[in-house]
Amino acid sequence: MKTNYIFVFYLLFFGSCTYNTIEIGTCDDNTISFSANILPIFEENCMSCHSNGNNNGGLIFNDYNSIVYSIESILYTIQLDEDEYLSMPPTWAGYSKMSQNSINQINTWNEEGLCNN
Ligand code: HEC
Repeated sequence: MKTNYIFVFYLLFFGSCTYNTIEIGTCDDNTISFSANILPIFEENCMSCHSNGNNNGGLIFNDYNSIVYSIESILYTIQLDEDEYLSMPPTWAGYSKMSQNSINQINTWNEEGLCNN
């Protein structure tokens, strides 16, 4: 229960922040490409459960806008310990935690300004 309570707080807090503060960078010297690096990670790890036919949690991550819109909760869930219920992709469904390399790429993409390239 304690964990659930903290998570609800997180959503309320960051949910509102995300809505107001997403800023897309200038993307002049970014090293991570959305189409070449980021979208394939979501295809491989997330879309079986978060796409049009199967939108778990009401969430679809199948294009740039849908991913950017939820970036704060995505970053949160992919970095949770894998025994947490909301760790994504969920190990309770037989999935493995993403590779650290994939997590790093999503973090870098976020830090570089969520470039749409
Ligand atoms: C095996 C199916 C499955 C896969 C694969 C999966 N998810 Fe999920 N995801 C779920 C389910 C089910 C929920 C709803 C959990 C709940 O709220 O009870 C969810 C919820 C979420 C949420 C919302 C958490 C919340 O409650 O606010 C986010 C963000 C999320 N997933 C991100 C991802 C990302 C990113 C990936 C890929 C790295 C991913 N998921 C892969 C099944 C999956």
